[in-house]
Amino acid sequence: MNRTLKKILSTGRVVNKDGTERILTSAIGPDEVAFLERTIGSLNPFRTSVEVGCAYGISSLVICEALSKVSGDRKHHIVDPCQLTDYKGNGIHHLKEEGFNFFELHATGSEIALPWLIANGSEKSVDLVFIDGWHTFDHTLLDIFYAVRLLRVGGILVVDDAGQPAVGRAIGYLSQYPCMQLVDVSHGGGGFIRRLASICCKIIPFPVARVVMPAAMLDAIYSRSRFGSMAAFKKIAEDTRPWNWYCKF
Ligand SMILES: C[S@@+](CC[C@H](N)C(=O)[O-])C[C@H]1O[C@@H](n2cnc3c(N)ncnc32)[C@H](O)[C@@H]1O
Repeated sequence: MNRTLKKILSTGRVVNKDGTERILTSAIGPDEVAFLERTIGSLNPFRTSVEVGCAYGISSLVICEALSKVSGDRKHHIVDPCQLTDYKGNGIHHLKEEGFNFFELHATGSEIALPWLIANGSEKSVDLVFIDGWHTFDHTLLDIFYAVRLLRVGGILVVDDAGQPAVGRAIGYLSQYPCMQLVDVSHGGGGFIRRLASICCKIIPFPVARVVMPAAMLDAIYSRSRFGSMAAFKKIAEDTRPWNWYCKF
């Protein structure tokens, strides 16, 4: 793990470009850092990645650290409309401090940047897509839609905050895609209630729960816990769904 990331995780604080310090918020936690490192470690080759949502750059530091160990061509696309405004460039400042020079910032929303990447030669070529941006249901579904198109077969999509109801529902739809397979789930954070709910998810599998449980209970338990706090899906085949494909989720 690089020095900057280690320091931020151990202190829970970030040092800004101008030398001021602030408490770290809006970032993946240590369990998710470990999960992301492990997931990236399973990718071979790992040369190209797309990240939605940078903030202070915690996930960016994890991804760039892994890419820094790769020789030859590598590229990390960072998508965040607020990096240069709300975050004042402090996320990418951390990357520069570590000497990472193979990333590109797209300072627009993912709804603009992801189709742009597809139109500009990145379709079916990306090894890793990491989604941690705007967490509404429709926005997350849009990110997922473009992520599946960006990934090569064998590539991995990781979605953070999978325990948030809107994100969990969008992932529920993704989990029905024949070309995508759930490979791992992080159970970090969330406390007792989430752990209890995740035990419930293991005892009563979702397809059974969907039939026997009232909708409100299903929503409360499964959309918050089915995919833990972070979920990883592998693209196992090309997406060949017909035009009218639909699956209950
Ligand atoms: C939870 S933070 C990301 C934290 C980051 N992944 C980390 O681990 O440090 C969410 C980020 O999504 C960004 N965001 C907001 N709207 C977005 C959009 N339309 N497209 C992409 N990113 C967006 C925000 O600016 C913010 O930086």
